[in-house]
Amino acid sequence: MTTRTLYLISCAAPPARRLEIPIRAAQQAGWDVCAILTPAAYRWASEDAEGEVERLESLTGHPVRYQYKLPSQADALPDPDALLVAPLTSNTLHKWAQGISDTLALGLITEGIGLQLPIVALPHWNNAQHAHPAVESSITTLRTAGVTVLLGDNGFVPHRPRHGDLDAYPWQTAIDALPTTV
Ligand SMILES: Cc1cc2nc3c(=O)[nH]c(=O)nc-3n(C[C@H](O)[C@H](O)[C@H](O)COP(=O)(O)O)c2cc1C
Repeated sequence: MTTRTLYLISCAAPPARRLEIPIRAAQQAGWDVCAILTPAAYRWASEDAEGEVERLESLTGHPVRYQYKLPSQADALPDPDALLVAPLTSNTLHKWAQGISDTLALGLITEGIGLQLPIVALPHWNNAQHAHPAVESSITTLRTAGVTVLLGDNGFVPHRPRHGDLDAYPWQTAIDALPTTV
């Protein structure tokens, strides 16, 4: 059987503290998973959680990447067959919709649209962030470009500030939304 590679691209929101859940679920579904963090999410994993980066590397069998390689360096990861952006922050949402690529995570997901990779995004933000007038247009831009954004009844529902429920974050819905064949 051909190995299918999934890039799990995670931003700095609380579900990023629980990446072992989607990694194990995706592996169960047959994916070889590589974890890519935004620089802010990497800071949480490396400075605020003892041994977290090493745990993710041992679970995936790949280095955890968070910044662009140097031009002279070889690719550290196999090419992706699909991208799962989870948790997606409002910061990365708007930069992604605008085509900004000043982090490795944004570079992969902006280019991923043009490469026509299957992309699933699972947001995480509160209802005050959600009320910002730019949210609707950024989501529409991404959906129009073919990204599956799991927001609303069939995905993540924004919570009141400081009332998030990490146990309810719908990781499995995102895994189930990935293609079964690539
Ligand atoms: C404790 C904490 C929780 C946060 N939770 C969220 C969140 O749920 N959603 C969100 O969009 N931003 C959240 N933020 C803000 C992001 O971390 C911040 O916008 C950061 O710049 C995002 O960078 P990134 O999109 O590159 O990961 C949180 C920040 C902190 C310190």
